[in-house]
Amino acid sequence: MTMPSHVRLVEVGPRDGLQNESTTLSKDVRVELIRRLMDCGLTHIEAGSFVHPQWVPQMAGTDAVLAELPLDGDTHFPVLVPNQNGLEKALAAGVKEIAIFAAASETFSQKNINCSIAESIRRFMPVVEQAHRHGLKVRGYVSCVMGCPYEGAIAITAVVNVVRQLVDLGCYEISLGDTIGTGSPLMTQRIIESLANDLEINRLAVHFHDTYGQALANIYAALQLGVSVIDSSVAGLGGCPYAHGAGGNVASEDVVHLLNGLGIAHGVNLDKLVDTGRYICAQLDRPVMSRVNLAMA
Ligand code: HMG
Ligand code: MG
Repeated sequence: MTMPSHVRLVEVGPRDGLQNESTTLSKDVRVELIRRLMDCGLTHIEAGSFVHPQWVPQMAGTDAVLAELPLDGDTHFPVLVPNQNGLEKALAAGVKEIAIFAAASETFSQKNINCSIAESIRRFMPVVEQAHRHGLKVRGYVSCVMGCPYEGAIAITAVVNVVRQLVDLGCYEISLGDTIGTGSPLMTQRIIESLANDLEINRLAVHFHDTYGQALANIYAALQLGVSVIDSSVAGLGGCPYAHGAGGNVASEDVVHLLNGLGIAHGVNLDKLVDTGRYICAQLDRPVMSRVNLAMA
């Protein structure tokens, strides 16, 4: 398999990037962040989530954020939906795409969405059916594919099982979440090769957190196997409130720089992305975590 000539970046900053920050941003700043990301050329921007506001208060008001966005335009604004309740809110907000999220670890599933893996799949069944009836696209996430904060190592067979179930439910794409950043290039290769046995490579996306600084190496391994969809977060913001100690997502600026070095097209303006990273970190009163952003200062 050769490397892709074009990569689609899925910017998760406004969701994964902000969901774990101690500062809860106003609707206006969340909207401004998304507008700036659109101006960078990003076409897929995760705009928020319809989860319980007591579980993740930072994502409360996602409906108000969506109300300010051009949902009928060309940019995709997926939102996270954990259950029927979340889907109803997403439909009321007029979204065109949702993302459901499961895990390859039983304990993480319990901590994150308060149910077992099997129960989560049962819950998602009517959610996906109804979403499709309304013409929505459904993306699927699998967390902890390369390790769990509670259970440690996770068997590849557990990952393959959950991915298969999300594909069977009708997810058009599955994003493989290295939730705590314990993945390696070899693990990345083994997981993707196992999945590619009976799934087209263009149905897979990779979602690395950069806790151990391995995300770019892992992305390079995924690219070599033909993966062409990469999740990333501006300025390297990110983390999951139910995965303590996990680092931020791989920084979008760093991924764009990597792709530039490889001659892979992506359609994103790096200078504007750097400015956007600085803007959002100033709003959060925290340092930028992207090496490329810092180097371009
Ligand atoms: P639960 O307590 O089991 O829910 O939480 P329930 O169905 O028993 O209902 C309890 C109450 O919650 C009820 O209200 C429901 O109406 C309400 P009451 O009758 O008591 O007044 N409720 C809701 N309210 C708002 N929105 C909803 C909703 N559902 C029920 N959707 C639940 C289950 C899934 C809601 C909860 O566990 C939750 O919100 N979890 C969210 C966790 C989360 O957002 N984690 C971060 C995202 S995942 C991630 O970051 C990983 C990823 O980036 C990939 C990677 O890196 O690995 C994607
Ligand atoms: Mg994540």
